[in-house]
Amino acid sequence: MERRKVIIDCDPGIDDALALLLAIKSEELEVVGITVCSGNVPVRMGAKNALKVLALCGKTDIPVYVGEEVPLVRELVTAQDTHGEDGLGERFYEVLEESKILEGGVQYIVETLRSQDKVSIIALGPLTNIAKALMEDREAFAYLDEFISMGGAYRIHGNCSPVAEFNYWVDPHAADYVYQHLPRPVHMIGLDVTRKIVLTPNLIEFINRLDAELATFITEITRFYIDFHWEQEGIIGCVINDPLAVAYFMDRSLCQGFESYVEVVTEGIAMGQSIVDSVDFYKKPNNAIINVDVDAKQFMSLFLKKLFVGYENLIDSIIGGL
Ligand code: BDR
Ligand code: CA
Repeated sequence: MERRKVIIDCDPGIDDALALLLAIKSEELEVVGITVCSGNVPVRMGAKNALKVLALCGKTDIPVYVGEEVPLVRELVTAQDTHGEDGLGERFYEVLEESKILEGGVQYIVETLRSQDKVSIIALGPLTNIAKALMEDREAFAYLDEFISMGGAYRIHGNCSPVAEFNYWVDPHAADYVYQHLPRPVHMIGLDVTRKIVLTPNLIEFINRLDAELATFITEITRFYIDFHWEQEGIIGCVINDPLAVAYFMDRSLCQGFESYVEVVTEGIAMGQSIVDSVDFYKKPNNAIINVDVDAKQFMSLFLKKLFVGYENLIDSIIGGL
């Protein structure tokens, strides 16, 4: 099987950690590197969290790069109220191989696109690193295979304001820059689809029956996130946005959408809003694929099967019964 090469650009973050687990455990993917930007937590904390996930999977040979510390224009606002002071649900894990963390995330993106064939990028955080890389060397992006961005909201309310999703709200200038300058369509995995992906206490109870080390990690990091979701959104369970972007990259049949032109609002009351020109008011060429429907069961089945190999039949019967 040909493994597709990807750079995961992220801000771990509880759901980023779950997305990294999914990417690393999927044999269809070759994660060539992880770049981190500030978002859920400051960039160096995020890099440590990425390394923690790699250590858990015995994959510390995958390089982790520190990228941009602050958004292009705005001051950094983190989401430590959502993900915990440490970004991983306040478990304050020890990270043993911190010296492995490398500098120069933006440079790494540019050099990798130029030196390796058919590399895609899955962006799970604010788009600061990607915008900076584009500003530095737009031509390198001619070699980019596909670009997936978890971010934005089309017909659904935001999670930072009535209209703005966190990743685009933290660095709206970067998000808009990427939509306007990337020589590829942005596959937008926004809140319209990710809000339907809920990891429930029932599913957590289930994975803890699978006798896997990963179950403990997932249970520990999601505890804080579940409390946050109950208080903020009134739901039992937690929305795991970022893994859907990875799953969609592997299996297009998970989501349905349409092509459109998109701009991201950079100032004022609607800052961070993704404006999707679905009826072509602006007469501008399409620059995005907006995903609006998702098969949440199919996602959950894929996610659990990749993480808990050997339990496929059990997973089918549990997901089938939902
Ligand atoms: C996005 O914001 C972050 O808190 C999550 O990691 C996800 O990438 C959802 O709005
Ligand atoms: Ca994220």
